[in-house]
Amino acid sequence: MPETPWSEVDRYIIDNLVAHDPALDAALEASDVAGLPAINVTPNQGKFLHLLARIRGARSILEIGTLGGYSTIWLARALPAGGRVVTLESDPKHADVARANFRNAGLSGIIDLRVGRASDTLPRLSEEGLGPFDFIFIDADKAGIPEYFMLSLGLSRPGTVIVVDNVVRKGAVVDAASTDPSVLGVRRFNEMLASEKRVSATTIQTVGSKGYDGFTLAVVGADA
Ligand SMILES: C[S@@+](CC[C@H](N)C(=O)[O-])C[C@H]1O[C@@H](n2cnc3c(N)ncnc32)[C@H](O)[C@@H]1O
Repeated sequence: MPETPWSEVDRYIIDNLVAHDPALDAALEASDVAGLPAINVTPNQGKFLHLLARIRGARSILEIGTLGGYSTIWLARALPAGGRVVTLESDPKHADVARANFRNAGLSGIIDLRVGRASDTLPRLSEEGLGPFDFIFIDADKAGIPEYFMLSLGLSRPGTVIVVDNVVRKGAVVDAASTDPSVLGVRRFNEMLASEKRVSATTIQTVGSKGYDGFTLAVVGADA
């Protein structure tokens, strides 16, 4: 299959703007060797998340969907001294790879990895008194987005930034007849967003080496 122009452009952007980082490169390599699916964010998307967290001045970050920890490392690197990331992953094998990647990046001390389904681990965070978080990245199963978003709101405060990945689904998000659980999850999420007074949100379509998709950016606030 011929390469899409947006893959080439992604490579150009990454070559120019995203410096090689041994720990991030090693995390991708280790994930690949361990047979994890290559569904991590791209380097330029990872840096975008990192910049958003820095712009927000985030000291506490919550991530739902760790995989091998690639995006987690980008987010952890955005933290000031004393900051922390909590990241949630349901697959123990993915979590093992991520843990090793955090160790290799020297970040184990500031990343709290919880293994289990997010619908179980998210309520536990509230019970433990963790949060509110300054920045939340939702990137697990897409059918679960509505639930993760609602639970995330309970772990937020005014000013919390929430990013939800993969919400365009190659355009299938507009297919009202879709029976795909991921599309249904994203459509339900959009219905919730449309009537949710606690946040102000928008969605941006994206193309890149991972294809055509998009992300939602939301901010929690009294003036939302
Ligand atoms: C798209 S990947 C995350 C990629 C990662 N954020 C990155 O960019 O490097 C989604 C991850 O969510 C995990 N996951 C799927 N369902 C989950 C659930 N119910 N609770 C927690 N994690 C889940 C998957 O095992 C997978 O590792």
